[in-house]
Amino acid sequence: MTEEFVRKNPMDTRGSSLRMFKKDDPQMPPEYREFMIKLLKYGHVENNANPYYKVLLANIANAGLRYAPDSRAMTIEAEIIKQEVNHGQIVAKIISSLGEDPFLDKEVGQYAFRMPLESWIDVAWFHGLIDRVGLYVGIEWMGSTYEPLAEVSDQLEKDEYFHATAGYNFIKRAVRDPDGRKQAQELLHKWWPAALDMFGRSKSKNSEKYVKWGIKGKTNEDLRQQYIADVVPLLERIELDVPDHLANRQYL
Ligand SMILES: [Fe+2]
Ligand SMILES: [Fe+2]
Repeated sequence: MTEEFVRKNPMDTRGSSLRMFKKDDPQMPPEYREFMIKLLKYGHVENNANPYYKVLLANIANAGLRYAPDSRAMTIEAEIIKQEVNHGQIVAKIISSLGEDPFLDKEVGQYAFRMPLESWIDVAWFHGLIDRVGLYVGIEWMGSTYEPLAEVSDQLEKDEYFHATAGYNFIKRAVRDPDGRKQAQELLHKWWPAALDMFGRSKSKNSEKYVKWGIKGKTNEDLRQQYIADVVPLLERIELDVPDHLANRQYL
């Protein structure tokens, strides 16, 4: 096995014996291609060729700019939207690289993306918790066996880290004020189960297939547990009560 077929990501959990696939690789197994399309076109929200993604971005831009407390926050919101448009373009291109039309006139992705953004705290939690899930996806893709995806994962991960950190900092600022703290605590109960549900069902046949092909390195449940372990201390640091991990969950 030549060096180029061995994954290079030091954070990789998938072992080095998995085969990497390039764009137009004639040896790509049909099941591999099928799961890549399932992952990116039918399971991943970022895709500029899906009109529902445009609606989602418009909703985030609307709430982000409407409720931003100051110019600095508005600038950050505009920057986040710009990056998400870029992500949608990148993912559409990668779907095309598999010989698949990225156009899909259907809502995809987790229900968290359809939850209403009705206040600045909603926007802050959306970035702090929901974009943070995107960060874990980016880290996952770093070790992807599909080269075009592995190549962009660094940038995606960096951007999502910025979104998640911005959201957390907005919340950190909001909880200094008693009203802000009360609202942040209440809305944490809205966003926390939605964030945990984003990782999908623990017992999913597809999850194991993804791992088998090296498309994903961790199962849904492994990734969710890592997320909980990382985020709980951040919430405790700002003295918020973390809701029960199983309360109000839709996918266990
Ligand atoms: Fe993104
Ligand atoms: Fe994001």
